[in-house]
Amino acid sequence: MGATRRTLLTSAGAAAAGGLVGATGSPAAGFAEPPADPVVPVVDPVTPVVGPIALGPATDIPVGGGKVYSTAMVVVTQPVAGDFKAFTSICTHWGCQVAAVENDQIICRCHGSRFSATDGSVVLGPATLPLGPKAVTVQDGQITLG
Ligand code: FES
Repeated sequence: MGATRRTLLTSAGAAAAGGLVGATGSPAAGFAEPPADPVVPVVDPVTPVVGPIALGPATDIPVGGGKVYSTAMVVVTQPVAGDFKAFTSICTHWGCQVAAVENDQIICRCHGSRFSATDGSVVLGPATLPLGPKAVTVQDGQITLG
């Protein structure tokens, strides 16, 4: 015996109601979940740096570009020759680690946000908050965080 028109309509209504409950019960209703990529850790963007951390040679940072130091959770840029900037590498949208620095922009590939490599401000959403600054020094050609 097959399903009647009434049982099909009832099932469809229950499925729709379940979908609504699931969507509104979610902490980020209306958004998809962030990608579950193990190489893009989702971490607390305000985790403090404990003590100075040697990042490496300043020559690793191209003018107009930058480098993401994923373990230290920082991105270092050099918008102008000899002027190094650093920001948290944790995207303010949903906490993915930013992926790259290209054309003076820090790029998060999770949802496409872009930030200024000069001041961390949002260039393109969905992020609405800037990347927080980090303190770095360059001495004897070596970059140190903190
Ligand atoms: Fe969504 Fe970065 S986490 S754009």
